[in-house]
This record gives sequence, structure tokens and C-alpha cells, in this order.
Amino acid sequence: MVQVAVMGHGVVGSGVVEVLENHRESIAKRAKEEINIKYILDIREFPDSPYADKFTKSFDDILNDDDVKVVAEVMGGVNPAYDFTKKLLLAGKSVVTSNKELVATKGAELLEIAKQKNANYLFEASVGGGIPIIRPMSQCLAANDVVEVAGILNGTTNFILTKMIREHMGFEDALKMAQQLGYAEKDPTADVEGHDACRKIAILASLAYGKHIYPELVHTQGITRIALEDVAYAASWGGVIKLIGQVKRLDDGKLDITVEPMFIESSSQLAGVDDVFNGILVKGDATGDVVFYGKGAGKLPTASAVVADIIDCVKHLGARKYIFWADGDASLVKPYEETVYPVYIRVECDDRKLAAEAVSRLFKNPRAIVRTDALDNEYAFAADEMTVAQQEEAAGELEKLGIKIRSKIRISDL
Ligand code: HSE
Repeated sequence: MVQVAVMGHGVVGSGVVEVLENHRESIAKRAKEEINIKYILDIREFPDSPYADKFTKSFDDILNDDDVKVVAEVMGGVNPAYDFTKKLLLAGKSVVTSNKELVATKGAELLEIAKQKNANYLFEASVGGGIPIIRPMSQCLAANDVVEVAGILNGTTNFILTKMIREHMGFEDALKMAQQLGYAEKDPTADVEGHDACRKIAILASLAYGKHIYPELVHTQGITRIALEDVAYAASWGGVIKLIGQVKRLDDGKLDITVEPMFIESSSQLAGVDDVFNGILVKGDATGDVVFYGKGAGKLPTASAVVADIIDCVKHLGARKYIFWADGDASLVKPYEETVYPVYIRVECDDRKLAAEAVSRLFKNPRAIVRTDALDNEYAFAADEMTVAQQEEAAGELEKLGIKIRSKIRISDL
């Protein structure tokens, strides 16, 4: 029998205990060992829990118990999860986690300690909830050079955008609904400002390219500035707006890595990923496009991924699963101002004809986009590829002419 511990008894943590207990027999068959939860760590009291005898408030109980071989860290946040994980790995215990913030910020260091101690640090649940993505990328697609990863990585923002697109609901109302349904947190900043998706694409990029891409290296923009007018123009253009986390290797070897809203053509596989679902597209040089789709959040889907990692660790006690990336630095990433893409712009102007003339002078091959019910003082267009710096300069020239930029959104090639 292998003894394990679960740190954190929130939504995911309680799900992990539930899955381990309810599937005890089938898990034992798959792991070829019975798995027993010896400790559940939480500072809160759970007197009515059927597992009340397992609770402890002392991390040292877990750290100093040599019988505990695998620990699930489902506390979230960097502190104290980082300190705890480091101590556990240094003690030679394997750790599994759903904690994307910790993996995205400290992954290289923790993976290095795991390697030195011949232990494992696994984090399938950190991206895409129950969708298998970390293991497929590190094992099944191992023969490929990953050319690009792009995905809808945040369920909350995808739900909000879907409501805006399908029901013409405003951002604030859609956010309120997401909160009522329990998708968005009370403080939804990490979701709507793109930080959650940023951590996830940083993890996938680190995995794909073998060097740690820290979240602060990723240009990140959320969906708070998306207006219903932009949604309507995207529809006229032939697509939808989605919050996309994307990384691709450019010809000069640098990574174009961003989280930002993008215009996506309706024919794209990601355009039909709606509501709280996630979709992740991995382009391999041998496989071509591979798409992963499913529920990217939620108690049991996420717990299922955590428990799968526990089983993997139990099957590999004293042996290493090869998931690794080395430390990275800013030189790996193309500065955002130098990235090149086609763009959609919506402006407010006194005279559409004058605006169109200025736009055709300043942008590359601009095409006007029209929508029904457009206001007299609005003008929107799609233009061909320019660097972000060139776009900003051209936009500045428009502003000087009294033409106000109301929206500027990347047009994707997905
Ligand atoms: N807040 C996240 C989301 C949860 O909405 O996708 C899963 O990471």
C-alpha cells in the first residue's frame, strides 16, 4: 500500500479525496498498488467530514512521515505552496499539482529539484482541467517539433464571449452571469484580464520548447475592452472574437507568445469552442494539427487529472517521468512591438470619408468592414500584416487627425 497526502481541501482538493476514495479498487488495479490517503492538510476545521480523522493542520506531519511517498498540492497560489513543494521534493517525495500559478512561476526550479532527488513533479491538471494535454505533449507528441500551440485556455472568458456573440449580452451582464453560475471568481481579475490564460500558455510553451517562459515575458491582454460593436464587426468579417493564448517559433528562433483577444475565422477549429469549454491546438511538424477539447475547469474534471498524476507517480516510485524544462530568460521571446500580424481597427470619426483616406495612407491594404446599425461616426477596417510598432505609429497619426481609436484586435491565422 502506498500512502499519499492531499494538501488543500477546497474545490479541487475535496474532489481529489472523493475520486481516490470512490474509485479505490479500480485505481488500485491501475496503479498495481492500493493507494491510501494518510493526511489531508488544511487550516480549516471539517468536523463532519467522513475523513475527519485524516485532517492535520501541520505540514510537518506530512514532510516528516517517511511512509508518505506522493503528495497532491491543490492549495493554489504561490505561498506557501512553493515552500511546501520544495521541501517535499527535497525530501524525495513526488508532488502532483493543479497549481498553474506555481508551475508557471517556479516550474524550472521545482523540476530541477525533482530531477536531482529522482522524484516526480507532475501537473497535468494545471492546464485544461480534465483535458489531457501535458502528458500528450510530453509523451505522445515527443517525436515532433512543436511549431505552434494556440488555445482557448480560460473557461470563464470563453463563457462571457460566447454570451456576447450568441446573445448580444454586454460584457458586464455576461460577467455577472458567469459569477452567478459559479464559473468566475468573486474577484474575476485573473480570468478577465488574461492572467490565468497567461500562466497556462507559459506552461505549454515551457514544455514545448524546453526552456522556462515566465508569465511576465508574455504580452497579456484580457477581454474587458471588447465591445458588442467589435463582436458585430467580427461577424461581418466572417468570424468571432476569442481570447487566445498562443505561442509559435519564428524563423529567427524567437517565440511569439501572447494572450490576447483575436479575430478567428468561422472555419477555424477554435471558432466553435463555446461556453466554458477549452480547446487547444498543437501543431507538430510530423502530426500537423492535433486538437484537444473539453471542460477546462471544475471539481471532478480537475481532480481526475490530479489523481491520474498520483497513479503515475505510484507506478514510477524511484523512477523518473521525463517532464522537464530548464531555466529561461527574456532573450527567448520576441518583444511584442516587433511581432507582426494583420489587424482589425474600429475608430470614431467626424467624417468617414476622411477617415478612410487617412487609413489607406497609413495602413497596409486596408479593407472597410461594414455592419448593420453602424453609427454615422464609426469606421472599421482590417489591414494586412505590420509590426505592432508600425500599427501604433499609424494609430498615433490617426489620433493626431482627431480620429479616435476605439478598438484594435489581432487577426489570427488559426
Ligand atoms: N478560472 C479558470 C477558468 C479555472 O475559468 O478557466 C480553470 O483554470
